[in-house]
Amino acid sequence: MEAENHTCVSKFLLLGLSEDPDLQPILFGLFLSMYLVTVLGNLLILLAVSSDSHLHTPMYFFLSNLSFIDICFTSTTVPKMLVNIRTQNKDISYTECLTQVCFFNIFVGMDGFLLTIMAFDRFVAICHPLNYTVIMNPQLCILLILTSWLIMFWVSLIHILLLNRLTFSAGTKIPHFFCELAQLLKVADSDTLINNIFTYSMTSLLGVFPITGILFSYFQIVSSLLKMSSSVGIYKAFSTCGSHLCVVTLFYGTGLGVYLSSALTISSQRTIIASVMYTVVTPMLNPFIYSLRNRDVKGALGRLLSRIVFGPSYITNLRNKWTVQILKLLL
Ligand SMILES: *[C@@H]1O[C@H](CO)[C@@H](O)[C@H](O)[C@H]1NC(C)=O
Repeated sequence: MEAENHTCVSKFLLLGLSEDPDLQPILFGLFLSMYLVTVLGNLLILLAVSSDSHLHTPMYFFLSNLSFIDICFTSTTVPKMLVNIRTQNKDISYTECLTQVCFFNIFVGMDGFLLTIMAFDRFVAICHPLNYTVIMNPQLCILLILTSWLIMFWVSLIHILLLNRLTFSAGTKIPHFFCELAQLLKVADSDTLINNIFTYSMTSLLGVFPITGILFSYFQIVSSLLKMSSSVGIYKAFSTCGSHLCVVTLFYGTGLGVYLSSALTISSQRTIIASVMYTVVTPMLNPFIYSLRNRDVKGALGRLLSRIVFGPSYITNLRNKWTVQILKLLL
């Protein structure tokens, strides 16, 4: 195969999850439903938080930021895959591919940063409850989120500029269901040393810093819980931290799965399954974890749904209570 400059390579072949034609309708249905559940679930969280003044606190603002990012996160990969399955076409253009890499990196990094910020928020709430409103003021919240966006924007931009130097052969196949940085580096023709160095250092930095922050916060939280005497306080702390801890475990657990399975290269099939868990299942489960375990979110969702069903002017306490009850039964 003759090597061409990337300017000549106008497209790649995304091999997808399986080449078996019998599996395609099943994959399409499965991923379409997961995508719709993800978008709907996270949209409900966004609406519930913004419409309910009880939830106008830093913790829920961060949660709605997480929901927003989760919607963007799945939207960078799944729709393109669905279109490719539907049209039985494996092409992805060079520009589309780099766009996917860019946005995927930004949103993965933002997920990690937000989970860290949320852990810090819980740490301040439990270990310094009297100073909570002073420390977690709106300026600090916005500063934390803006800084994370800026960092991820610059890191992604450098990734893209470094990728743009590489050459690829015409008709290069990517054995994945979206353009992933590590996969692209594997199939490049030219020397990827600088790319690999940058990728590994950024992955370790952006992996180690958030994990250290989260571990530190939870270490402090647990040690201050052990000093608490009232069981009510301990229960309350656990109920607000429990959902966050579940989401953190899911995100970093599946992330580690992807990393290990691709580092050990046991089989590319297993790496892909781990990536599906990481990129599709995790964002889908986040809203469920939060609404299942959290009474405030459940209440806000109930009020939101009753407003949608009965209209804003008919909202009454009775209907409100009924919807909350129904929602509790359903969830
Ligand atoms: C994200 O968090 C910031 C800071 O708390 C908040 O002002 C903003 O409304 C949130 N954005 C979304 C989409 O929830």
